Amino acid sequence: MDLYDLMMKRRSVRSFEDRPVPEELLDELLDAAVNAPSGGNIQPLSIIVVEERAARAELAEMVGGQPWVANAPTSLIFCIDFHRVKRWASAFDVEFRGEESLLSFLIAYADLMCAAQSVVILAEARGLGSVYVGTILSSIEYAREFFAMPEHVLPMMVLSLGFPKSVPRDIPKLDRHAAVHSEKYAARSDDDVRDDFERKYGSIDEDVDRYLERAYVEAVERDRQVPRDDGSWVGDVKKRMQKLEVKSNAEFLFRVRYPQNLMVRFNRDLIKALDRAGFSFPLAKDE
Ligand SMILES: Cc1cc2nc3c(=O)[nH]c(=O)nc-3n(C[C@H](O)[C@H](O)[C@H](O)COP(=O)(O)O)c2cc1C
Repeated sequence: MDLYDLMMKRRSVRSFEDRPVPEELLDELLDAAVNAPSGGNIQPLSIIVVEERAARAELAEMVGGQPWVANAPTSLIFCIDFHRVKRWASAFDVEFRGEESLLSFLIAYADLMCAAQSVVILAEARGLGSVYVGTILSSIEYAREFFAMPEHVLPMMVLSLGFPKSVPRDIPKLDRHAAVHSEKYAARSDDDVRDDFERKYGSIDEDVDRYLERAYVEAVERDRQVPRDDGSWVGDVKKRMQKLEVKSNAEFLFRVRYPQNLMVRFNRDLIKALDRAGFSFPLAKDE
């Protein structure tokens, strides 16, 4: 398939067949990850391959009970790894202080996502499906301990992989024109911005179930994979939408799905987890 078509067809997959990713294929994916672009080509990256069933189940819990993480035959944990870089530097009596540099941290995170996305695309081309699981950021300490990560190693992203059992359709996306500017940033009017997102998600009050199929596929899929006796995830979401009288996509996203007070409150946990892993970004006095 043409690469453009493949990229336009790619969807996050959350339902996997119960068969392993062949070893040679996994090796290719990992080669692609390690061969990805890297700022300064320093490659401060480690990838933990998780395939044992018990560890997959634990990882699924760690990321907030996402069943597809347990069901996927392979998950890759992409970590910023300054531990290895520091050891290398110190072997040559050089100081590496990436754990104190927000710039080094951001470059390392960019490297990590370049590597992960290389895996996503190659996996797709080889007939696999994948899904990113970013909620590992809420369990950095748990993950560091469980996977025996030393100081200065941070789990930042999980990518779960396998042969797809089903692939979602109709995932809404912004129109290209809503996101692309020619030469200079072109401010859009409030109406334009509203229209861009209405076009993306469609109307919310037509049919809430159909809306959630498009806008909250994780909740729908979770109910499919682990039905609950005491209701459903989608049911809980709908109740919350009713209680908050949600009428727009923006309200749904920023009051129900990602309540903004929680997102800000989460800073504290994240900064603490980084600190415990040996990362902090002081405002250095002139040296
Ligand atoms: C940074 C990031 C974090 C994500 N975290 C999760 C996650 O925790 N669980 C999940 O099921 N999907 C997760 N996803 C996948 C998105 O939900 C998905 O990309 C989005 O719904 C668009 O669908 P598409 O990938 O099919 O285009 C994440 C994607 C990104 C880029």
